[in-house]
Amino acid sequence: MEQISDHLFRHKNYNFLAGHTTPDYIDSLDSFEIKDSDVFLVTYPKSGTVWAQQIIISIHELHGNQNKYSNNMERMPWLEYKTAEYTLLPSPRLFASHLPEHIMPPGVKEKKAKIVYLMRNPKDNMVSFYHFSKALADLETPESFDQFFEWYITGNVLASSWFDHVREWYLNRDQYNILFLTYEEMILDLKASVKKICNFLGINLTEAAICQVVEKATFQNMKNDTKANYEHIPPERFSGKFLRKGQIGDWKNTLTVAQSERVDQVLREKLGDLPLSFISE
Ligand code: A3P
Repeated sequence: MEQISDHLFRHKNYNFLAGHTTPDYIDSLDSFEIKDSDVFLVTYPKSGTVWAQQIIISIHELHGNQNKYSNNMERMPWLEYKTAEYTLLPSPRLFASHLPEHIMPPGVKEKKAKIVYLMRNPKDNMVSFYHFSKALADLETPESFDQFFEWYITGNVLASSWFDHVREWYLNRDQYNILFLTYEEMILDLKASVKKICNFLGINLTEAAICQVVEKATFQNMKNDTKANYEHIPPERFSGKFLRKGQIGDWKNTLTVAQSERVDQVLREKLGDLPLSFISE
C-alpha cells in the first residue's frame, strides 16, 4: 500500500479512499464468494451511479423483492467499502462498485453474476467530480478547476484514471456477463434504458411497472426521495448534492477550449482504437 495523500491510498495500481477501506479487505475480495444471482453496478465515480442504483433497486422492488432498507446505499452497498456482512445479505444481492476490472472478485467471471457498467463522457464526468471533491470532506479540496483538471487527466484522483477504467472494463468485457450503458443514453431516453436494464437482468415488468421505475428515477423525483438522494450523509461530511445538475454538456460552462481539446486528444490516444463514442457536444 502506498499512502499518496491524507485522503487516498494506492493499492493494486488503483486509488482508494483512505479511512474507508483497507488493503487487507480489498485483498480478501479475491476469495469473495459470488452467487449467480448477484448484480453489480460498476461505474467510475460521478457517472450516474446513484441514478442507476435507483433504477436497479426499483426494478427488483416491482418484481416483488422486498426492500426493508432505509436508503439505497443499504440496499445496494459498495463492494469495496464493507458496510454490512455481505455474505448474510438475501438474494438477489445488489452491489455498487467503482472497482477496476483487475480488482473485481474473480468469482464474478466464473458465475452468471451480472454487471451493469455505466459510463459518462469524461468532460461532464470531471466537472461533476470537481464539484463533488469540493463538497466531500473525505476528498482533497481542489483550489481551482484548473488544478482538478490536471489531477483528473493524470489519474491522480479517487478511482485513478477514467480512461483506464473504461478501457480495462471494455477490453475484458467478453469474460463477463455485462451490459454497457451510458449516462447520455439514459438522459436521452430513460424508458428505453430501463427496458434495456430489465432485459439484461431477465426481469419482465409490465409497461405500467416500467413507467413506475421511470417516474421514480426522474431527476426531480429522485432529488426529493430520501431513500435515493443520499441526504442521509451528514452535512459535515458532504456539503453538496448528489443530484446536482443532471445534464449533458454542462462542461461547456467550465472547461476552456484548450482543456476540451486536451481531453479529445487523450480520448483518441487511450480509447481511439475502441468502438466507443462519448457524446460531449
Ligand atoms: P452532475 O454533478 O453533473 O449533476 P454518481 O451517482 O456516480 O456520483 O453521479 C452523480 C451525477 O449523476 C451527478 O451529475 C448527478 O446530478 C447525476 N444524477 C443523479 N441522478 C440523476 C437523475 N435522476 N437524472 C439525471 N442525472 C442524475
